[in-house]
Amino acid sequence: MEWTREERYRGLSSISNEVFERMTHKVNQSPWRQHFHIQPVSGLLNDPNGFIYFKGQYHLFYQWYPLGPVHGLKYWYHVVSDDLVHFENKGPVVYPDTTYDSHGAYSGSSIQIDDQLYLFYTGNHRTKDWERVPYQMVATLNDDFQVEDKQPLIEGSPQGYTDHFRDPKVWKENGNYYFVIGAQTTEQSGRALIYQGDTSFKFHLLGEIETGLSDFGYMWECPDLFKLGNKDVLIFCPQGLEPDGMNYRNIYQSGYIVGDFDLETLEMKHHGFVELDHGFDFYAPQTTISKEGERVLIGWMGLPDITYPTDVYNWAHCLTLPRVLKVKEDTLIQTVHLDVEKLRVRSKEATLEVSHDHTALDLIQPDCSEVNISILENEADVLSMNFTNQVDEIVKMTYDNNTGIFELDRSQSGELPSNQDNQKRSIQLNEALQTLKIFIDASSIEVFINDGTHVMTSRLFPKEPYQSCQFSTQSGTVKLETKQYEMKRG
Ligand code: FRU
Repeated sequence: MEWTREERYRGLSSISNEVFERMTHKVNQSPWRQHFHIQPVSGLLNDPNGFIYFKGQYHLFYQWYPLGPVHGLKYWYHVVSDDLVHFENKGPVVYPDTTYDSHGAYSGSSIQIDDQLYLFYTGNHRTKDWERVPYQMVATLNDDFQVEDKQPLIEGSPQGYTDHFRDPKVWKENGNYYFVIGAQTTEQSGRALIYQGDTSFKFHLLGEIETGLSDFGYMWECPDLFKLGNKDVLIFCPQGLEPDGMNYRNIYQSGYIVGDFDLETLEMKHHGFVELDHGFDFYAPQTTISKEGERVLIGWMGLPDITYPTDVYNWAHCLTLPRVLKVKEDTLIQTVHLDVEKLRVRSKEATLEVSHDHTALDLIQPDCSEVNISILENEADVLSMNFTNQVDEIVKMTYDNNTGIFELDRSQSGELPSNQDNQKRSIQLNEALQTLKIFIDASSIEVFINDGTHVMTSRLFPKEPYQSCQFSTQSGTVKLETKQYEMKRG
């Protein structure tokens, strides 16, 4: 169904509680509701926003369009948890209810100052002629996590940049506030800019981060800049990169550069852009510091400009599991956060000898599992690992021992999202395949390869849950150990 502009810019106040309840009823009939991932009660979820550990709890918000599976009038929806896995729905917090954010409370971040939480975000305003005017906003939350006050910090975009100017990620350093923000030059090149502000929130532009990536997509969304060990990391989402071999296969990319950033000169020395995830559905991640002091990342398990099979049930998308970031030789290692282990219910172990004939591993809980695989010996050429169900839908994973290429193929996995460049994603491993940690929910798979050296995240829309994993080789044998867990349903 096509949504008109007018329909998309209708907000929550345009419908009654009864209509909203009918919408959520429809959502709950969906066979693809997730069991242990954050998902919207109705409508569309996109970027994680304002992620923070504040006064003993995690607060996370996400971009939310309540009325349907489309990008319309955006709110910030709030979820809270004592840990990183038991999030509770709290409802919308930032409403698009001022002139500054009249056409959406777009992405941003949060910061604790004294005892209070402040949200920095982009107010998306459109004029009568539909011209976009971005406002960088600050919202002050009261003790009940409701917006007490909202103020524009910056109107429009700086000279030399277009109105694609959004997604401030704020931090404090040396007594000043800073934010990094996504921008587009008037020559249509993506950039990340840095602003500095004093304690009364007067912000001024310091300039562009000098990355040397001057012709690298037409817009950079959702930048995030932080220290990790003795390195600096800039995460951003360039739009408009052409596919390049196994890289940049999705409609928009999400990745990072690691190196040394100088806040005086704004120069960032690095060894090149690396994608964070090699699956089909990953975008606009945001990081924060965990209770334990780790750098933890959550991403949107979806992408813009694609329609998904859940749309007919009036909802779209979810967030990824939380991942801990570490730097190893200028690349990021992403391991799932230890809190996820709290979801384990019961386990089963098996040692398998895999050859040309299929060896099946039955899942103890088909649509709600963690499966760990350790390769003990690999004398095979190609190892296949296929998750299958009763109606012969298959998620295929293959590892080629000769080339070191790992492939995820969802072409026969069930219903498929539209508008995506083929249904296979591959990655060249930098070491032989040793471990896989796989999370399977009702409509997603997250595959952590070799202890988080590579990650592949994808939505899946099977008719029935995948019940077993079929292992086989083309020739030669593989000895492997598996340990699987049933996960708690949220
Ligand atoms: C990224 C993004 C952001 C924007 C938000 C709007 O997915 O386009 O740049 O702030 O979504 O929902």
